Parts: sequence; structure tokens; C-alpha cells
Amino acid sequence: MTELRIGRPNDKQRLMLEARTKHIGFGGARGGGKSWAVRTKAKLLALRYPGIKILIVRRTYPELINNHIQILRTELAGVAAYNDTDKVLRFGNGSRIHFTYCAKDQDLDRLQGMEYDVIFLDEATQLSEYQMKTITACLRGVNKFPKRIYYTCNPGGQGHGYIKRIFIDKKYEAGEDPEDYTFIQSLVTDNRVLMESQPDYIRQLEALPEKLRKAWLEGDWDIFEGQFFEDFRTSPDLQACAKAGLEPEEARKLRLWTHVIEPFAPPIGWKLYRSFDWGYSKPFSCAWWAVDYDGRIYRILELYGCTREPNEGVKWTPDEVFKRIRETEDSHPWLRGRSIEGVADPAIWDESGGVSIAETAERYRVYFSPGDHQRIPGWMQCHYRLQFDEHGLPMMYVFDSCKAFLRTVPLMVYDEHRPEDLDTDLEDHVCDEWRYMCMARPIKPVPRQEPTVIGADPLDQYAGNRRVRRLPGF
Ligand SMILES: Nc1ncnc2c1ncn2[C@@H]1O[C@H](COP(=O)(O)OP(=O)(O)O)[C@@H](O)[C@H]1O
Ligand SMILES: [Mg+2]
Repeated sequence: MTELRIGRPNDKQRLMLEARTKHIGFGGARGGGKSWAVRTKAKLLALRYPGIKILIVRRTYPELINNHIQILRTELAGVAAYNDTDKVLRFGNGSRIHFTYCAKDQDLDRLQGMEYDVIFLDEATQLSEYQMKTITACLRGVNKFPKRIYYTCNPGGQGHGYIKRIFIDKKYEAGEDPEDYTFIQSLVTDNRVLMESQPDYIRQLEALPEKLRKAWLEGDWDIFEGQFFEDFRTSPDLQACAKAGLEPEEARKLRLWTHVIEPFAPPIGWKLYRSFDWGYSKPFSCAWWAVDYDGRIYRILELYGCTREPNEGVKWTPDEVFKRIRETEDSHPWLRGRSIEGVADPAIWDESGGVSIAETAERYRVYFSPGDHQRIPGWMQCHYRLQFDEHGLPMMYVFDSCKAFLRTVPLMVYDEHRPEDLDTDLEDHVCDEWRYMCMARPIKPVPRQEPTVIGADPLDQYAGNRRVRRLPGF
């Protein structure tokens, strides 16, 4: 006889396992043990109700494999057999767990005419309201099995608004019975196993800028509005200066608690990068970066725009853009004769319009590697770069001559439909190219802590030396 171990739920997971309403929301934050609860509940239902039909949904197939299929196959070896063709785990008692993914609306076609007794939408907020409703319309069948839909969720994602309405705001529409809905909040701090096994995970969440931290660590669903880069500072933070006993002007000279600094010639040993985003119908953005010996990046130069002359309204051709880049790299004293690594939007290799943008660039000896264009991890890297360490130093600076960055980055706001992303209708090319740069040299966040900067006591030689030694570019 094969023995199946189910494991021990934490207190929040227990509430989820015991919930009996038709719609059950679970989680509301990162790392709350949601996928574990999905797998466990699916196993319990399959064993308790012989013949039951269960569906587990994730947005993408790789996520489905990694979070569910592989783990369940291993855990249920000898109890249920998996068939990869129809993606079904069949139990000896006739129960079945089906798996499907829904990255786009066409994926819903596979569900036509299907019937399930219990449906799990793992990370439901990554699906749209339309996708969730189409999938849950498959909840039917004439039998005595429970009929339930489980939604695990995080703030953010295209389904944010819908999940927030039914589980957080609890504003119900005609045809929706409030009694049918249960929401159980589970935060990472409720997940003891994860807290113990991966203390780094919570540190990463704590290091996020305030709005994202409130969303993903504390489960706050109200935060995605306003400025996307609230953490970008064009002048030293006054509070931090006051705490350290420094005048803002003094802090600015020391490059503390600010991201914008006066230009200087990057030392010859620093590595140089060029990041690039091509605007098909909008401006392109090209920036040059220097990397100091601590891995800190400096945006030193940029080339941005689309018009030949101000207000002329004529878009530069790719040839004109790369000719200008070539000229800049051949003549600018900071760049001339130095090796420069390029990273660009992977879309520039697209050949469907004839000669790709990348090929045109090569004609001018402007070479790029394809950038990593994952958006959310990319934005995380941008945020990590902007964090100040306990001395007030960030991992990136922008020269005050980089006008496109200074003008466009503060304008970015959260997207209405995908709230943890920025609104791509805005002038976001600088941000995209900055993101490729950050993804080319990913860093770890610094742990959140109070600044402990040493006061500016001229007699305190140790403090003075320490500060100067740590400062980049001196
Ligand atoms: N009750 C539990 N017992 C053992 N491990 C657990 C339990 N709950 C969660 N875990 C583990 O904690 C980690 C995070 O849980 P997971 O369910 O993946 O979180 P989420 O889906 O909310 O991000 C996983 O490694 C998972 O296996
Ligand atoms: Mg999960």
C-alpha cells in the first residue's frame, strides 16, 4: 500500500483547506504558501471524492510545470499516473487533476465544452477578468461533488481590479451572492517554512520601494497609483540629510541620497556600456553608461529623439541614428578608442520589415547583444539600483546632462490594467533602455535599514576617511 504524506498546513493554509464557499480567495501577497495550498487541496479532494474532476490553471505552461505538474507527479508516484498528452493526473479511484495554462485568449479554446467540479486559478490576478470568467464557466456537472473555485492572488496583474472587487472590496454585482465568497489573507510572514528556509526572500520584499513593498509584503491592494519611480531622487533627501547632520548642498557634493550628479570623465579602467531602445513609431533612446569598480553604474551620455531639427517633425532613419552613434563614439573624449558593450531591445533583430534595425546598426559598427526584456524583474532591478545603502550611496547615478532621463523618468505612472507595470502609452523609451542596462548587470537589493551615516565632524578622521574611501569616482 502506498502511503501519501500530505504535510502540515500553516494556520492560514488550514483556513483555506477548510473553506467551503463556492468562491475562495487565498493569499493577497507574495510567498504566502499559495501554490502549496492549491496542490494540497487538490490532492485531498481527489482522494476524498472518487471520480471528481479538478482543474489547475496557471498563466503559462512553464509556471504550470514548475509549480504543480512536476511536484504533484513526484508526490503522487504510485497513487496517480500522469499523461503528458492530455496533461491529466489520473488517480486509481477515478479522480482526475487536469492542468491548463492561459497566456492569451486563444488558449481558452482548449476548454470548450469541458466540465470540472473544482477549479484552481493559481495566481488568478495574472489572468484577465474575461479569462477568469470563461474558465470558471466550466464549473458544472450533474453530480454530488462540491463545486468550487479557488483563486490564489497577489496585488498587481491584469486581474487585479476584478479580484480586488470580489475579495477585498466585496462589492457584488447582480447575480453574485456575497455568501458565496470567502477571502483568506496569507502573507509571507504566515509561511513559516519559507521564512526559515529562505530568509533572503523576505529581505528582497523588504527592499522594494514603498508601494510595491506594501502590496507584496503587506497585501495592500490600494497602492498602485501615481509615480512609478517614486524612489528616483534628483536632489538629496532632506530628512536623510538632517539625520546625518549634513547640509543638502554638502550631501549633493558627496553624492549622498541623490541619483543626479555633475558630470565627470569616467576613469579609463571603468567598463562602458551602450543601451538602446528603438522606437518604431516613437522616439528611440540610446545611452552610454560607465561602471565603477564597485559595480555602480553612471549614465554619462544619451542620444534621444526622432526629429532632425527641433520641431521639424521628421523621424530619423535607422541609418541616421547609427551614423550619429558611430560619430559620437569616434569623437567624444569619454568614449573615443574605448571598448563599449551594447545591449538593446531584442525586437531590433526582427527581420519581418526587411533589413533589421540590428543589421543597420552593424553597418556602422554599432553592435548589441539582445537585452533581457522581462518587464517586472527588469523594473525590480531598476528599483534595486536606486536604493541607498546605509551610507546614502545608490548603485546608479545619472549625470545632470542626461536630459531625456531627467525629463521622462519622473513622468512614469502605474498602468491601469497591469498595475505593477508602468503605463506603456507614456514616453517610456528611456526607461526601457535603462531596464535592459540593469538586466545586463543584475544586482541584489540592499537590506532595508535606517541610515547610520557618520556625522560630518572634521575631527573624526576615521569617519571622514571612511566616507571618502567609499565614494565612487574620487
Ligand atoms: N505547509 C507547508 N509545508 C511545507 N512547505 C510549505 C508549506 N507551505 C509552503 N511551503 C513551501 O514554501 C515555499 C513557498 O510556498 P508557495 O506555496 O510556493 O508560495 P506562493 O505560491 O504563495 O508564492 C515553497 O517552497 C513551498 O513548498
Ligand atoms: Mg505560487
